[in-house]
Amino acid sequence: MIQEKDRIIRELNDEITKIKDIQELQNVKAKYTGKKGILTALMKNISSVEPENRKNYGMEVNSLKEEIENIINEKTEEIKKSEKEKQEMKNWVDVTADGAKKISGREHLIMKVMRESFEIFTNLGFTVVEGNEIEEPWFNFDALNTPKWHPARDMQDTFYIDEEHLLRTHTSAVQIRTMMKHQPPIAVVSSGRTYRKDEIDATHSAMFHQFEGLYIDKNVNVGHLKKFLEIYAQKMFGSNLKVLLRPSFFPFVEPGFEVDVSCISCGGKGCSVCKNTGWIEVLGAGLVHPNVLRNVGFDPEKWQGLAFGIGIERIAMLKYGISNMRELFKNDIRFIE
Ligand code: DAH
Repeated sequence: MIQEKDRIIRELNDEITKIKDIQELQNVKAKYTGKKGILTALMKNISSVEPENRKNYGMEVNSLKEEIENIINEKTEEIKKSEKEKQEMKNWVDVTADGAKKISGREHLIMKVMRESFEIFTNLGFTVVEGNEIEEPWFNFDALNTPKWHPARDMQDTFYIDEEHLLRTHTSAVQIRTMMKHQPPIAVVSSGRTYRKDEIDATHSAMFHQFEGLYIDKNVNVGHLKKFLEIYAQKMFGSNLKVLLRPSFFPFVEPGFEVDVSCISCGGKGCSVCKNTGWIEVLGAGLVHPNVLRNVGFDPEKWQGLAFGIGIERIAMLKYGISNMRELFKNDIRFIE
């Protein structure tokens, strides 16, 4: 009997080590302790045992049963534990892990400068108007005192769609469209894309953005122009900025100016940004030419006007220290961020 007991336990242990789930374990359990199992068979066998040995035999079978049950219980616990661990691994959450990143949009610097420019002038009482990116030559050139034979037309000559349509070379065309629609006094600003057949380099692009202003009223003079531009420059770059008007030529203004601001980088002392001049050119401006007023049917004896055109990219580059204009158009998310 003893020998058989050891063999049974050995076999059970062998079987059990291979078991991986509860179902397999149930089968093994049935084989040993079930109604038709090994233990039952041993128990039934008691009738063939000598009467005086039956007590011992019964005790041995019982202790064997206990041993088998212990082994099976132990294995049951082991399987349950490993299944629980597996489940926990599946549901494991690392509370210290980074959360899913939400990518939020950013305002592009061009749009930001445009919006801020609008804000400055609407606060001064200007109204925002829209123009056309596809313009007619009359609005873009002729009405702005730049007839076909005018050399200034060459400098801006551009992308024609057909004889009567072109991509506007400046936002100044909006001045004409506005004056054709409204009677003075007029105070408007407008902004958008403009196009020229420029070679693309660090400071030029065939497509860029301008911001145009027009103010028509009685007795408008250069003092008004300078003050508006000073307010703009100081709100955009800082209150200690100075504005300088340098006489220059644009066909649609008289007098015309190129407008500088004191260098944002060195404050006017002279540095590499301002090429040691202390000044940086930021826009063109002037008093509206009498011919332009006449072209839209206004009497220049009665009405005067001031106008200005600002390069949005130029302002953005100065304000944010960007040395290559192409950065503004590359659409690189890292740059925008
Ligand atoms: N349209 C000019 C340009 O693109 C800029 C400009 C100069 C606009 C003088 C104006 C102005 O309104 O008065 O270069």
